[in-house]
Amino acid sequence: MYDFKIEAADKETLYRDLIEAAVALTAGEPDPIANMANVAALLWESLPDINWAGFYRNLGGELVLGPFQGRPACIRIPFGQGVCGAAAASLAPQLVADVHAFPGHIACDAASRAELVVPILAQGRLVGVLDLDSPTPGRFDKEDEEGCVKLTQRLAARLAGMAKAPSEA
Ligand code: SME
Repeated sequence: MYDFKIEAADKETLYRDLIEAAVALTAGEPDPIANMANVAALLWESLPDINWAGFYRNLGGELVLGPFQGRPACIRIPFGQGVCGAAAASLAPQLVADVHAFPGHIACDAASRAELVVPILAQGRLVGVLDLDSPTPGRFDKEDEEGCVKLTQRLAARLAGMAKAPSEA
């Protein structure tokens, strides 16, 4: 059993602890789905005031639902559509204070109001995106964005399936 209890007073510490826990959870595991599943669960358990945390994978130029925590979600998202598709098309994080004001936002859960989507790049290739939703408008800020960018950069190879298994190391 893994028992990570991350309760930091400030976001810098929160994301530092989160990244440390995520690195430990994925150490030596080359399977990207297993790693995404555990990272989604860790984010779900550690981040306050969120109603969805998970991944969409880039499969042949389309985003396909990956491991997540929260309510069932849209399965396929074309590049350029919605917040996730905007992140995939631009390769830039999308920090949306109020999804109702985002043209083309895809409402998987009517309760979602704020969204943060970060593209995951490994060796210049788009692996997919990390998506966080919250029922509270303005829930995510630049510190959340920076924390999630660092997390995805640190874990990129392990989320891409480029990490080596212990037997291959
Ligand atoms: N709202 C997203 C779709 C994915 S769900 O939030 C899980 C979007 O507009 O891309």
